[in-house]
Amino acid sequence: MKAKPVILVVDDQPQNIELLEAYLVPQGYEILKAEDGEAALKTIAENTVDLVLLDVMMPKIDGFEVCRRIKGDERLRNIPVVMITVLSAKEDRIKGIEAGAEDFISKPIDKGEVLARIKMLLRQKELTSSLTHAYDNIARLTNIGENILKTFDPLNFDFKSKIDGIVAQIIRQKSDMTDQPQIVLVSILNEKQKYEWYRYEFALKRVERLEFFDAITLTLPKPTNSRLIFYNEPVMEELPFQSFVERLRGYNIVPRNMVAYMSKDLSIFAINYAREVNAYDAAVLNSIVMQTLFLQSLSSQIKETEDAFEYTVLSLARASEVNDEDTGKHVVRVGLYCALLAKRLNAPPAFVDAIRIQAMLHDVGTLHIPSSLLKKRDAFSAAEWLIMKQHTLFGAKIIGDHPRFNIAKTIAFTHHERWDGTGYPQGLYKENIPLEGRISAIADIYDALRNPRIYKVAFDHKTVCEILTNGDGRTMPNHFDPSVLKAFTDLSSKFEEIYETYNG
Ligand SMILES: [Fe+2]
Ligand SMILES: [Fe+2]
Repeated sequence: MKAKPVILVVDDQPQNIELLEAYLVPQGYEILKAEDGEAALKTIAENTVDLVLLDVMMPKIDGFEVCRRIKGDERLRNIPVVMITVLSAKEDRIKGIEAGAEDFISKPIDKGEVLARIKMLLRQKELTSSLTHAYDNIARLTNIGENILKTFDPLNFDFKSKIDGIVAQIIRQKSDMTDQPQIVLVSILNEKQKYEWYRYEFALKRVERLEFFDAITLTLPKPTNSRLIFYNEPVMEELPFQSFVERLRGYNIVPRNMVAYMSKDLSIFAINYAREVNAYDAAVLNSIVMQTLFLQSLSSQIKETEDAFEYTVLSLARASEVNDEDTGKHVVRVGLYCALLAKRLNAPPAFVDAIRIQAMLHDVGTLHIPSSLLKKRDAFSAAEWLIMKQHTLFGAKIIGDHPRFNIAKTIAFTHHERWDGTGYPQGLYKENIPLEGRISAIADIYDALRNPRIYKVAFDHKTVCEILTNGDGRTMPNHFDPSVLKAFTDLSSKFEEIYETYNG
C-alpha cells in the first residue's frame, strides 16, 4: 500500500490544530502536531514529513525562522511549507516569501482552499522528486555506460563476467542506497537451451553469484513486447508474476517491488529497491542491458571477422608450404613460438596476438622460388643461394603495405638476418634488425631443426637447444639477439610442448 502523506501542523493555538486535523484526516492525510517552533524542528528532523502547515505567530522561534531553517537544510528544503497568515498582513506575506515559503493560506481558514493548495503542492513535490531521481539515474547510467565502454575488449568479451560487472554496479552495496535493488536475479539461456539462474546479493562486502534454480523458469510469464516492466506492492502479488513471486518466497526472497528486463536469452530482475520503483528505474535497467547486448553482438561480429582474417592468413601461409610437404604445421608452430617469446619479452598483448598470426607468413616469398630448388637434395651453388635468399624480398612484396600486415612484412623481410650481421638480405646488425625479425629467427630455426627435411634428419628437443645455445658450426648463438635467446632457454620446455601438440 502507498503510505499516507504526512502533514506537520504547527500552531500555538490547539483549537487551530484541531480544526485542520478535522479537515485533513478524513481526506487520507496523516497528521503530526507541534505547538511551537522548537517542537516543529524536532518533529521534522525525526520523522518523514511531506508538507508543513506553519503558523506565523508563535512564542520563541516564530514561523518565519522555522521556515528559514527548513529551507536552509539540504535534506529538508524540498518539503513544501504553507504559512498561515492573517489576510490583511501583507508584510507577513513578503517576509514569508523571503523565508522561502511555497504558499500561504489566510485565517480564517477555508476548508476548500487549504485542501486544494495541499493537493497541488504534494503533486508538485512528487514531480520534483521524480525529476531528481531521473537526473540521478541519468548520471548513474552515464557512469555505468562509461565503465562498460572503457573495459570493452571485443576479442575477450565474456558475457557472464560482463553481467557480473553490470550487477555489481546496479546492486545496493550500502543500506542508505535507496536507488538500488537489494537482490538481482539473472537468467541466461545457455548453449544447451537450458536456463541458468544466478542470484546476486551484496553480502559479506562483495557481490556473490550463486547457482540458482531452473524450475522457476516455468513460473515466468512469456516475455512481453514491452521491455519496461516495473511492479510495486501490491500489484506484484497479482498476475502475471503471482506464481513467480510465490516461488521466490520459497528461496527466502520476499519481493516488495521489482524492475525487470525479459527476453528469450536473458532476463534480469532487480528486486527490492528501498523505495517504490518507477518507469525511470525500468528505463535505466533496460538501457544498461541494451548496451551490453549491443557490445556482445559487436564483439561476436568482430571475433568472426578476426577468425576469418586468421583463416585467410593461414591459407596463404600454407600455400607457401606446398613444395615442402614435410613441414606440415610448421607455420602454425612458428606463430605460436613467436607469440611465446614476444610475451616473455613483455611486448604489448596486441603485438603478441599479431605476431602469432602474422609470423605464419614468414616464408610466403618461396611461392616465387622454383620448386626444383626448394626440393633439391644437394647443396646449393652460389647462384642458387642468391635465388633462394630472394624469398625474403618476394615475401615482403607479396604481403605489401597494408598496415594490418606490418609485422608480417617485416618478418618476411628480416627473419634470416643475424645479430652478428652475417644474415641476409641486408646483413643488418644487432638492434638494426626489427624485434619481430629477431624473434622469428629463433622460432623458425628451432622448428626447422626439429623437422626432418629433404636435406637433413630431425633433431630432438635437447639437441636443438644445444645447437641454439652452443652452436654446431652452422647455427651459432651469436646469430641471435642474446635477450631473445635467453627468453628461448627460459621457455624451451614450452617450445617442446608446442612442437608435440601441433605436429602432423
Ligand atoms: Fe625463410
Ligand atoms: Fe620457416
